[in-house]
Amino acid sequence: MKSVGDLKAMRAEVSQGSKLKAISKKKQDLLGQLEQIHLPKVIVPKFNLSAQKVAQGTIMSICGGAIGYGDTFIWNNINLSVHSSERVALTGRNGSGKTTLIRGILNDPKVIKAGHWNTPPVKDIGILDQHYETLSPDKSALEIISEVAPEWSHAEIRCHLNDFLFRKNEEISEAVKNLSGGERARLSLAQIAAHPPKLLILDEITNNLDLETCDHVIQILREYPGAMMVVSHDETFLREIKIDKYYGR
Ligand SMILES: Nc1ncnc2c1ncn2[C@@H]1O[C@H](COP(=O)(O)OP(=O)(O)O)[C@@H](O)[C@H]1O
Ligand SMILES: [Mg+2]
Repeated sequence: MKSVGDLKAMRAEVSQGSKLKAISKKKQDLLGQLEQIHLPKVIVPKFNLSAQKVAQGTIMSICGGAIGYGDTFIWNNINLSVHSSERVALTGRNGSGKTTLIRGILNDPKVIKAGHWNTPPVKDIGILDQHYETLSPDKSALEIISEVAPEWSHAEIRCHLNDFLFRKNEEISEAVKNLSGGERARLSLAQIAAHPPKLLILDEITNNLDLETCDHVIQILREYPGAMMVVSHDETFLREIKIDKYYGR
């Protein structure tokens, strides 16, 4: 027969056991909740461009310029200059000629031009639009960065891609055509950061981007050290990337 003391001890053991079970369940619940929390990733981009190497002086200037197609000018009397590290936003309603002006700066043969144009050689201009055409569809992130920075070791390329949130083996070796719009935007910017141009032109890049990617693009562009020309209808985006000057009609 068990004594009163034995029974008390047994009860204590049972209640101890159920407490432990309850604690263990609570722990599982909390771990489950933690997994649900989506922690936004922060990009800390590094541009392969030191302050001394940022192009100085006037990067481009257009004086009394005009642009158009065929034999018709669509925008006359363009007077615009961009200086070292300056951030210029091109403004104007849809169809006003912003993309045409960019094509003019890139010497696109479709565009007719008049006036005085002093623009950097096309090879020194980085251009990015919402189609990310600088990315070859069949190449991987690894291949794309190694092409623009052939002097980098595999480890250096991985480190650079890591800054732009390409971290897993699958992410760096996947073909561009299988990447999401947000991943393509990040990869295009990683490509530009690995080999920064004299003048960076962005034509409506945030159209169709989700909020998180838009945030990443902002984090990257805020750090960009060179001259930039941006077309966007998103006023918050323009404010966030610290535009210095607005030009349009
Ligand atoms: N290849 C082209 N040939 C003829 N006209 C064009 C061509 N591309 C655009 N346009 C016309 O030029 C005008 C300006 O277009 P665009 O530069 O794309 O404006 P935005 O970029 O400001 O929206 C529009 O009226 C457009 O229809
Ligand atoms: Mg346009």
